[in-house]
Amino acid sequence: MGKTNSYHQAPDSVAEAPPGCPMHASWSPLDADYLADPYTIASNLRDQHPVFWSERLGHVVVTEMADIEHIFMNPDIFGSTNVQDPIYPLCPAAADILATPDFDPVAVMSNRPEPDHARIRVFTRKGFSNRRLNSLEDYMRRRASDILDQMIAEGSPAEYVSSFAFPLPAEIVFRLIGFPESDDAMIKKWCVNRRAFSWGEPTQAEQVEIAQGMIDYWRYCREFVAKRKEERADDITSELITAWENDPGPDADPTAATGISYREVESVVYGLSFAGHDPVTALLCNTLLCLLPRREQWNQLVADPSLAAQAVDETLRFESSQISWRRIALVDTTVGGVDIPAGTRLFLNFASANRQSELFESPDDFDINRSNAHQHISFGKGIHFCLGSGLARMEARIALELLAERLPSLRLADDDSDRSYFPNITFRGPEALQVAWG
Ligand code: HEM
Repeated sequence: MGKTNSYHQAPDSVAEAPPGCPMHASWSPLDADYLADPYTIASNLRDQHPVFWSERLGHVVVTEMADIEHIFMNPDIFGSTNVQDPIYPLCPAAADILATPDFDPVAVMSNRPEPDHARIRVFTRKGFSNRRLNSLEDYMRRRASDILDQMIAEGSPAEYVSSFAFPLPAEIVFRLIGFPESDDAMIKKWCVNRRAFSWGEPTQAEQVEIAQGMIDYWRYCREFVAKRKEERADDITSELITAWENDPGPDADPTAATGISYREVESVVYGLSFAGHDPVTALLCNTLLCLLPRREQWNQLVADPSLAAQAVDETLRFESSQISWRRIALVDTTVGGVDIPAGTRLFLNFASANRQSELFESPDDFDINRSNAHQHISFGKGIHFCLGSGLARMEARIALELLAERLPSLRLADDDSDRSYFPNITFRGPEALQVAWG
């Protein structure tokens, strides 16, 4: 931790408000009422001050789409090195555990600055090319259908997260990486840890437990890459190792402009295994949370499953599985007329921007026929634009097409008050979701 380019770097002190920035002393995205329903609160905050300092979060909060896009499109002014970092300083016991010399993943994608980010993205982009996605569609539909068969065979009602929304994305991305199926549950547990580590506010006791889990997770990724180095298979990890053999980049020359190092290969595996499924699980749930209570729109989809792609994008706008992201000011600058000194951490509030009435008509209505739903910011923008957006969209579309075809009577079997959301500042999806049919 704390080394240059290390994957996670906990802040070592509590940040101070930029002079002159409007201030909110009490609001935090970890508040229970915000976790339950962020949108009304996000919109009220935007109305009060489009850019403001959250004392509890230690970040400047940016709520308007134009400002968020400006930040994403100017990586020389706003860096992304903090996007995988814990929000608050770690307790000494957890920091000590993570100081072990072999906990050394390096920043590779979302949190790596240029020019190295572009050097590495050349290789990861290949793993998620349109050609690969197209070739995956039949396989994905078959696996989704098998998992759905199993859910249906076990009978109504079903808990959708464990019976469908977790297994499908995990299966797709873990098999793309090459992880064996027998390890799925263990990796998922580590990912929950990681979500709490980087985006939650774990207690000191939890931090210690999580820190140990992070080390196990990293060691698992390293051992897996070492195994693939000895014996290749048809997966992204094997492709990355071959790319490393062909051009080891910084391993041969620290200033290399091409290639990928072995540690970077290990770190891509560590990064993708989280990014590639957790927000997709939540997206699969959120599509149902939006569609099933709005019976007219669900019936429209049942009658015409080709509306599934639009329904997915409208869900990403209206009830995204990722409702914020972070940046750090690299130089003194301004955002929305507010002075932002170098070093200021910024919290980009997608929950607010995706519901701006200047951009989306009747923004608080969910409407699968909305023509500009895809203009949401849920996959980011610019050089770090989500590498898996095509995969995520395809998984969610296939899931909806199958559900509409096989279970037209599908409905929610719990209500809002039964629903709990994992306390964190960024990812949003119910921890459990009861559905019924027939
Ligand atoms: C609904 C699902 C998903 C959402 C909402 C989402 C959202 C995001 C966002 C907001 C970013 C940051 C963009 C920026 O900084 O400009 C991002 C980056 C990234 N995402 Fe996703 N993502 C999803 C699914 C996936 C999947 C399935 C994968 C991989 C299989 C993936 C891999 C990545 C990677 C590698 C990056 C970093 C790209 C870079 O820095 O070049 N994501 N994603």
